[in-house]
Amino acid sequence: MAFELPALPYDKEALAPHMSAETLEFHHGKHHKAYVDNCNKLVADIPELAGAKLTDVIKYAKEKGNKGLFNNSSQIWNHSFFWQCLSPEKQAPTGKLAEMIANDFGSHEALLEKLKAESVGHFASGWGWLVLEDGKLKVTSFHDGDSPVAHGVTPLLTIDVWEHAYYIDYRNARPTFVDTVLQNLVNWEFVAQNLDGQGASRADQG
Ligand code: FE2
Repeated sequence: MAFELPALPYDKEALAPHMSAETLEFHHGKHHKAYVDNCNKLVADIPELAGAKLTDVIKYAKEKGNKGLFNNSSQIWNHSFFWQCLSPEKQAPTGKLAEMIANDFGSHEALLEKLKAESVGHFASGWGWLVLEDGKLKVTSFHDGDSPVAHGVTPLLTIDVWEHAYYIDYRNARPTFVDTVLQNLVNWEFVAQNLDGQGASRADQG
């Protein structure tokens, strides 16, 4: 079974004006799709991966040092997860997640500032992340196609800071893109579901 490009969980016009339909057409329809196509070609040459889940392909590629397979499989997962992290409806954290944010960062605004600083400050291509590690929330970033999936920490929220994520709408203004997404588009309901692993499975396949 080949991996497939998952459908966006909203209409491509739904995130405007913060993220345009044109950005989603290119980012989802071209970039994400290319990772799926490339991964399928690479997996087809490795019989032991027949029928493997996407997360297993990522772990296999890392273990074997297969950079091409790692980058393409991990980028499928990161993008599938990223689309789920966004919502057309402005939300705020509630319940247990809100309590954890208050405990670990002091306030929701303090968390957003930290996520923004990490994501904007990440040199070149990569992803800003909120993860769960040893029972605590942690802000971090991973370079290029790397992912928490390959590091044994629980992914909760991500923001793509590859230039292809923002150049159509924001040109070179990564800080404005990151700030706009964090203030307006985060699906905090999905983030909360990831605390017990229920949400992230939507990004897996196989
Ligand atoms: Fe991307």
